[in-house]
Amino acid sequence: MNVRGLLDILKAEDEFEGFIRAADEARARGVGDCVHLRGLIEFSNYCRKDCLYCGLRRSNAALPRYRMAPGEIVEAALEGARMGLGTVVLQSGEDAWYTAGIIEKIVGSIKEQSGLAVTLSVGDRIKRDYALWRRAGADRYLLKHETSDEALHWTMRPGCGLGDRLRNLEWLMDLGYEVGSGIIVGLPGQGIESIARDVSFMRDLGVHMASAGPFIPHAQTPLKGCEPGSVDLTLRVIAAMRLELPWANIPATSALGTLDPLAQLTALGCGANVLMPDITPGPYRKMYEIYPGKVGSLETPAQSFARCRKIVESAGLAVGTGQGGCARLPGRAGRSMANDWTDRKDA
Ligand code: 5AD
Ligand code: SF4
Repeated sequence: MNVRGLLDILKAEDEFEGFIRAADEARARGVGDCVHLRGLIEFSNYCRKDCLYCGLRRSNAALPRYRMAPGEIVEAALEGARMGLGTVVLQSGEDAWYTAGIIEKIVGSIKEQSGLAVTLSVGDRIKRDYALWRRAGADRYLLKHETSDEALHWTMRPGCGLGDRLRNLEWLMDLGYEVGSGIIVGLPGQGIESIARDVSFMRDLGVHMASAGPFIPHAQTPLKGCEPGSVDLTLRVIAAMRLELPWANIPATSALGTLDPLAQLTALGCGANVLMPDITPGPYRKMYEIYPGKVGSLETPAQSFARCRKIVESAGLAVGTGQGGCARLPGRAGRSMANDWTDRKDA
């Protein structure tokens, strides 16, 4: 589909039901009727970056900061395996305290002691670090491009170019990770055309995982007075991603659940097939405040897990067993775009 076709889905009024049905069918055909649960461990809220939208940004002096010890991270992952999860996602701000060697040991230890798939989500690093972690057994990597509008990207993520993000995504693909990208929907100044291009961007890159969550303003950021993103538009983006990336694992994001308690269930009917219960241990979970009021932050890990299972059952789908990886082979599936993406006007 070209950008114009994608715009039709994002803007559709009367025909929208039809697009949803098509996305739901594409989900069933592309990835089946199981919803995979990924246990999210948010192990450090220190961040060296200063993204305008994010509560973890380094300029937010009001946020109490924490770091989990490596042994504590491994224990939280093993607890996730005992709960019946097949994947853990180790996520943090960009925190140099965790050297490449420390993360290598954490990954190695989890892989040695469990059958878990390990997803890393620790931001921009050098290729050598990504390679080291892959050799240690890391299976997947999440690195959202957030917006493919180059100027907006630069404004929202000061000092960070879209080109560098894309280069990192291609490194990760070359190293054989299953790679995830994603966007924030409703950033101030983001047009709907730019969102349509985001979907094309992820399709062309051939990512294995794709996500979309609505923007939620955080009081301790420069975007505090801005409007939140639209839940309805985010659901349309999910439907468009499913139609364009039928092979991909697509989460019903927590940001959706934060703005509307029913929206994650709705998303499972619009093409999403993944939920990510927060299994971060008690003392820390409230402090990983990317945006305020995050769904589940007041629950225990077991309660988050149970809530996600309930959403899957309400959707009439089954909870997936095992690691629930992407059937599409790792490696660079799409074409190389590092040099030409930002020049393209249509896709
Ligand atoms: N609203 C919605 N999503 C956000 N993220 C960061 N800040 C916000 C916000 N205010 C998302 C980004 C990032 C992930 C960790 O959280 O997509 O990749
Ligand atoms: Fe740091 Fe990620 Fe938040 Fe940006 S979005 S400030 S990189 S945690």
